[in-house]
Amino acid sequence: MGEPNYPHMSKRFYLTTAIDYVNGQPHLGHAYEKIITDVIARARRSLGEEVFFLTGLDEHGQKVEQAAVAQGKTARAYCDELAQTWRAFTAKLNLTNNDFVRTTEPRHREIVQAGLSKVNASGQVYKKIYRGFYSTKEETFLTEKDRRSDGTFDPSYGNVVELEEENYFFKLRDHQSWLIDYIEKNPAFVRPDYRRNEVLGFLKNNVLEDLCISRPVSRLSWGIPLPFDPNYVTYVWFDALVNYISIPAAHGDPVVRSSLNLQPLNPDPQLSLWPADLHVIGKDILKFHAVYWPIMLKAMGLPMPRQILVHGWWQKDGQKMSKSTGNVVDPVAVIDEWGLDAFRFYVLRELDIGPDGNWTDAGFRARYSAELANGLGNLVNRSLSMLKRYRNGVVPARSNELASDAGKVIESTRAALEQNELQAVLQSIWSLITRANQYVDQTAPFKLAKDPAQAKRLDEVLYNLAEICRVLAVLLWPFLPDTSVKIYAQLGLPAVPDKFSMANWGGLAAGQQIGEPAPLFPRKDA
Ligand code: MSP
Repeated sequence: MGEPNYPHMSKRFYLTTAIDYVNGQPHLGHAYEKIITDVIARARRSLGEEVFFLTGLDEHGQKVEQAAVAQGKTARAYCDELAQTWRAFTAKLNLTNNDFVRTTEPRHREIVQAGLSKVNASGQVYKKIYRGFYSTKEETFLTEKDRRSDGTFDPSYGNVVELEEENYFFKLRDHQSWLIDYIEKNPAFVRPDYRRNEVLGFLKNNVLEDLCISRPVSRLSWGIPLPFDPNYVTYVWFDALVNYISIPAAHGDPVVRSSLNLQPLNPDPQLSLWPADLHVIGKDILKFHAVYWPIMLKAMGLPMPRQILVHGWWQKDGQKMSKSTGNVVDPVAVIDEWGLDAFRFYVLRELDIGPDGNWTDAGFRARYSAELANGLGNLVNRSLSMLKRYRNGVVPARSNELASDAGKVIESTRAALEQNELQAVLQSIWSLITRANQYVDQTAPFKLAKDPAQAKRLDEVLYNLAEICRVLAVLLWPFLPDTSVKIYAQLGLPAVPDKFSMANWGGLAAGQQIGEPAPLFPRKDA
């Protein structure tokens, strides 16, 4: 098969989330990661890039099989049911994902098998008898090294059983020094830096054990069969990680298809996606993404993803979230009560991407009231209400008094978006909101309105305020899409403010008739 040649295709900015296990309901942690990724996807589109955003579900494995059995269902029926809940959840979060993968789909299975065949054919898989311990909860083999000083295994492993089993292993060890070298030469491969150092520390201080990539069908049937031995299914992580290339392959990606010896897709639309630009994941699954995944890709002859962005974990009230104690944040309940944008705002403003965070209801309310209702909401509402009251809602002639303040924030926003520094973007946008609210207090348009000699000055102030609201709507689009559209509508602008270039000062034309001002974030006095 010759090298495919698709001259019409340009590589898209391709970003992914971890795919969630289907053995429960979505919680704050899942929502957080998907929102981070959605904001980055929207921001890149707004900056003019073509984007492909993938999220989805990890459906195989013993945990899922056991959960299904416990409910008296087949694994497939159980997954199909929960998949509906999770898909509805992506809509609830207003995610702009371009596809949604389920690892039980044939299009995924085909690529997992092609990948396994390739790795096997290149001599990187061997079979051996394994004797040792196994944690079903974590679906992982344990060794003596994993015992604690008192001889027991950490309770997080659940019930640990002793096993003797013949399995297939993937040679990781051969790639260890290559990987250390790769991560050292590519400082942006794992972000933030302390996570990169963690991976390097792990790789330099441990000899990589070869990875067991099979489970006998007799013990686990809910998985993808090994193409070279039907008595086994694939280990869940080998299956799950491959989603990042299986969906590109299903969309005709030439890099993945040719390296796995698959025919080009014709005449289906072909997208150029691989290598991924960004994998967004939580800190607990760093080793899988920064150690196993690069080695799997190398063994399949595929280029490395450009960056793995690692976020921290949320706690609630200083405690680990746990279904059994009821200490969870249910994103759907918060969204129903406070609105989606308030939820999106809080998680991104409260927690930078990297460290761990702590959700408190009081903290959520405080930000809602100070930053959303009194900050952004009040600015937009009073600016547009005054324009309505004093000028019948007709935008006066252009004035540039706040143009340079806006310009600085536009530039710092662009720079921070390019670095995926989402919390910094919100801080910078809120500095403009504060500046504009001070401007209202300093210029006191309600006083100017009483003095006919100040009519021109009032025009200037009203223009600057309305234009700042418009600029804010554009800058906020990736974060608070509903609010951003509402601000545009209240300005009487029918467009969706989804292009970053629309933020340039002066977009609001004199004579424009604005719409109806209405509170963006109703105050909730409890
Ligand atoms: N199925 C695997 C991922 C496979 S990716 C090829 C998995 N699923 S998960 O449902 O347990 O977790 C999905 C994502 O949610 C992970 O990135 C994880 O870090 C994140 N979070 C789960 N709980 C979290 C918090 N409490 N806080 C923040 N993120 C958390 O792992």
